[in-house]
Amino acid sequence: MNIFCAASLCAVAAIALVGCKSPAPSLERPWTAGERAILASLTPLRAPPASPGNRVADDPVAVNLGHVLFFDTGLSANGQVSCATCHDPQKWFTDGKPLAEGVSKAGRNAPTLLGAQWLPYLFHDGRKDSLWAQALGPLEADVEHGFDRLAVAHRIAKHYRQSYEQLFGPLPPLEDATRFPRHARPVPFQSTHPDHQAWLGMTDADRTAVNAVFANVGKVIEAYERKLLPREAPFDRFAQKLLRSDPTAAQEISRAAQHGLREFIGRAQCVNCHNGPLFTDRGFHNLGLPDLPGQTGLDVGRALGAQSVKADDFRCGSVFSDTQTCQELRFLNPKFEDFMGAWKTPTLRNVAKTAPYMHTGQFTSLGDVLTFYRTLPGNARVGHRELVLTLLDPDVNQAELLAFLETLTGPLPEAEWLHPPQPIPPPDDVTGGAR
Ligand code: HEC
Ligand code: HEC
Repeated sequence: MNIFCAASLCAVAAIALVGCKSPAPSLERPWTAGERAILASLTPLRAPPASPGNRVADDPVAVNLGHVLFFDTGLSANGQVSCATCHDPQKWFTDGKPLAEGVSKAGRNAPTLLGAQWLPYLFHDGRKDSLWAQALGPLEADVEHGFDRLAVAHRIAKHYRQSYEQLFGPLPPLEDATRFPRHARPVPFQSTHPDHQAWLGMTDADRTAVNAVFANVGKVIEAYERKLLPREAPFDRFAQKLLRSDPTAAQEISRAAQHGLREFIGRAQCVNCHNGPLFTDRGFHNLGLPDLPGQTGLDVGRALGAQSVKADDFRCGSVFSDTQTCQELRFLNPKFEDFMGAWKTPTLRNVAKTAPYMHTGQFTSLGDVLTFYRTLPGNARVGHRELVLTLLDPDVNQAELLAFLETLTGPLPEAEWLHPPQPIPPPDDVTGGAR
């Protein structure tokens, strides 16, 4: 049975007619009330929620400072890596590589930042609960910026003191080298690491003061990231016109894409997980994905991410957070085993622009992703594949699903956000200090 047959009254006839020959595609059958209700839940994309943990989230001075810092390669151990290295504005804030590369190679794929403003949990495993807390991770990750919070604070003092102090008040006396080493940070599980030793050598009060500066750096970066929003795509124009019975709706996306959309929200069951205006339930699922060739270690995904976020120094409700009301964390499912091998459902907005796919970039094209859903090969190496994920109905036309996914591409954010707003000061110290 082919798609036109299934999607029309001819589906009934098909039971009687061997090899139903569908008529040439004419007008679509009308969208049912149920389908229209689903469409109304997928569009429009409204403004992102507030960020109560970050009181400068929408402050223009913070936006500008965060905008510069996002492109500042001086915040890295080799003077060459900035956030934009792996979240390249021209690539819809991804890097086009299976595994991201900073100071060295990361173990995961760099997701887009367009749409991250709505997510209660960040990273593929959800180990951070705000954009500002998230931004601190890559700065100190050995494979990404390879930097440390003392070096971050010194660079802020040297190049960005004025706007920083306008937002947050005076910096600590960082020029006092006996109290504030050039490089220091906590290094989990490596107590002999020179950075860790230097960190332990500081007083509690000075460590807290530096942590506050570090948190504030995350907060200004979040202020900038809040400008990086997905924009209206052909799908939105189509669905909104359809919902107000505008006869020109059908001109917005191809007939194939319309069929693909119907399948996406219908028997292909993609909306079970890819729902809401971002096309994600913002939850975590075990799809039983194949590993990247050569991958050996077991990665448990959300199971560890859920533990990490609860223990994070910069989580909602911590001393560095501007709110103590933390519904998401309060109701976080504490059962480790429920999340074995589960990964965050990514947004599908702009997905045609953000290859390769999945948390380790194991699929190079959308076609490969759909082949996976059609065949569901192998078993999960960690945990078990969720039962809610069933084989994609073989009658669903893959080309039409693809045509629909392509209608989720909108323009890049406004041009002013795609480049640094001012020249970036040269790196200060690329030797990595004690390291
Ligand atoms: C070396 C490349 C690299 C650099 C540099 C980098 N990132 Fe990322 N980013 C990644 C990867 C890889 C992930 C996913 C990692 C994971 O899930 O464990 C990620 C995840 C994220 C996410 C989470 C998105 C989501 O959907 O959960 C945000 C937000 C983000 N990065 C922002 C930043 C910011 C801000 C900076 C600069 C301070 C930065 N990144 C620097 C590679 C990089
Ligand atoms: C059980 C929930 C679930 C269902 C049902 C589901 N997905 Fe997904 N999808 C996910 C999760 C989780 C990921 C990310 C997995 C990872 O990163 O390892 C994903 C990833 C993707 C990606 C890659 C996006 C990226 O940026 O890496 C695409 C494309 C996609 N899904 C499309 C679909 C389509 C089309 C359907 C219907 C045929 C579908 N999904 C059904 C949960 C689901």
